Amino acid sequence: MISELLNDPETRVILCCGSGGVGKTTTAAAIALKAAEQGRKTVVLTIDPARRLAQALGLNELSFEPRAVKDVSNLYAMQLDMKRTFDEIVLTHADAKRARTILENPFYISLSSSFAGTQEYMAMEKLGQLLASKEWDLIVVDTPPSRSALDFLDAPARLGSFLDGRLIKFLTTPAKAGGWALTRILNAGIQLFASTVSKILGGEFLADISAFVAALDSVFGGFRKRADETYKLLKAPGSAFIVVAIPERDPIREADFFIERLLSEGMPLAGVIVNRVSPTLAPLTIAASKELSKGASPELVAALELHMENLRVKSNEDRLIKTIKSPALLRIEDAGADISDLAGLRSINLSGNSL
Ligand SMILES: Nc1ncnc2c1ncn2[C@@H]1O[C@H](COP(=O)(O)OP(=O)(O)OP(=O)(O)O)[C@@H](O)[C@H]1O
Ligand SMILES: [Mg+2]
Repeated sequence: MISELLNDPETRVILCCGSGGVGKTTTAAAIALKAAEQGRKTVVLTIDPARRLAQALGLNELSFEPRAVKDVSNLYAMQLDMKRTFDEIVLTHADAKRARTILENPFYISLSSSFAGTQEYMAMEKLGQLLASKEWDLIVVDTPPSRSALDFLDAPARLGSFLDGRLIKFLTTPAKAGGWALTRILNAGIQLFASTVSKILGGEFLADISAFVAALDSVFGGFRKRADETYKLLKAPGSAFIVVAIPERDPIREADFFIERLLSEGMPLAGVIVNRVSPTLAPLTIAASKELSKGASPELVAALELHMENLRVKSNEDRLIKTIKSPALLRIEDAGADISDLAGLRSINLSGNSL
């Protein structure tokens, strides 16, 4: 249950993950708000919230640092911007001159803003920083919409080895014109990198690469180490992964995939939130059914049909929900309209029934 998780002072990090559009950002914000209202100093690290929700959380201006949410004590929010997080790391780890070389490098710019996995990686990096600051009773992390449910967990290893391993060696090895590029990159198994680089940067890239790589190496040498540390923290007691899904076949299938992956990595899976279940209609009143027994009015027939349809939809949802391979957590009803302010977040019943 979510409330147990929130009442446990040992819970330090909650991560909401799941496929695109299922309500990760909304649930992360609702959980953070509830924790804050219970008196825990909470920060929600969110990714690209819808504009009105961002405003409600005071995120209209982008900031590196968590900002207090207006009118809610103990609640802070920050929006992840992977390029700025990347820049921040460069600025903290390199002297001013070297930092400038890196920040202005076209390869760096393309890497920091478009390389697949960087956003997931940056979420990890920022989470590591927030944990290290020891300032927070609870950190709630909204994860990016992943094309593949695996991206989030793969990110540290992928980007880590990309940055501090073979790539650096490869790039610092003197180039023999024309010969080395494609085959060696392919052999190294990083085709994606090859196509990104050649597409975005072309020949220009090769001209200033060695100066850049030297600087990059000194700064990003510790990337993998930090990623590994954060990864370990995620496995430790005090972290809880919540998989968010909606009661439809494909999202539930993806949720299962995610669950299996988390379990196989030994990640602490708290359970699944099934968001946007159909609301239960108020039962037909006794008066209405008596009325009905006298003969059906068109209104009553319509109401009955609505109930029948609702029952049918709900039993389908139940059937799907029962197939989920995970500990039970919570169902959240569909609110009927977007949830875009604090009142909307508060109206989400987090102490509701488990699955
Ligand atoms: N229980 C709910 N009832 C009604 N609307 C909801 C509910 N949960 C989420 N929504 C709406 O669904 C939309 C998607 O939600 P949200 O942005 O939280 O999903 P997400 O998983 O973070 O999406 P993305 O993968 O794009 O980041 C939003 O407009 C949100 O207001
Ligand atoms: Mg989101």
